[in-house]
Amino acid sequence: MTKVLFVCLGNICRSPMAEAIFRHKVIASDLDEDFHIESAGTGDWHIGENPDPRTIKVLYANRVMKFSRAQQLKSPDFDTFDYIVAMDVANVRDINGWERAQPNKVSLMSSWNPKATKIEVPDPYYGDLSDFENVFKMLDEATEAMLTKLKN
Ligand code: 4NP
Repeated sequence: MTKVLFVCLGNICRSPMAEAIFRHKVIASDLDEDFHIESAGTGDWHIGENPDPRTIKVLYANRVMKFSRAQQLKSPDFDTFDYIVAMDVANVRDINGWERAQPNKVSLMSSWNPKATKIEVPDPYYGDLSDFENVFKMLDEATEAMLTKLKN
């Protein structure tokens, strides 16, 4: 069982989208028994909330129908998960500043994608729907590359 935790700031835009897309690919590959997938935020503002309506809209438009409610990163996550995948550099810094952090488990989303042209998945929260669509494309590519690496 490979355990993957996607992390961003609020856990309502980027990381729940990454979680939903990755799960969609895992199920499509008939690998759902082999993976445990969650997402979390470093911030606590949106705990218990559904993803941002724009995240849901873009997921639905791409036939990804399943998503989770927001939760905050917690110290036991560093023992639970094998891979903690951050969206941007500030997330990495915040995650690695956590009590009982395990920096060896932490990576940037872009580092999984050999074809990535940007280091960070940009925060779309203060943007518009096109920013969410751009995030979807980046995450679709990066999670595809990640699944290819992890299943081998
Ligand atoms: P996310 O976007 O980190 O991709 O979920 C954000 C969502 C909410 C906030 C910041 C970023 N916020 O400040 O509430």
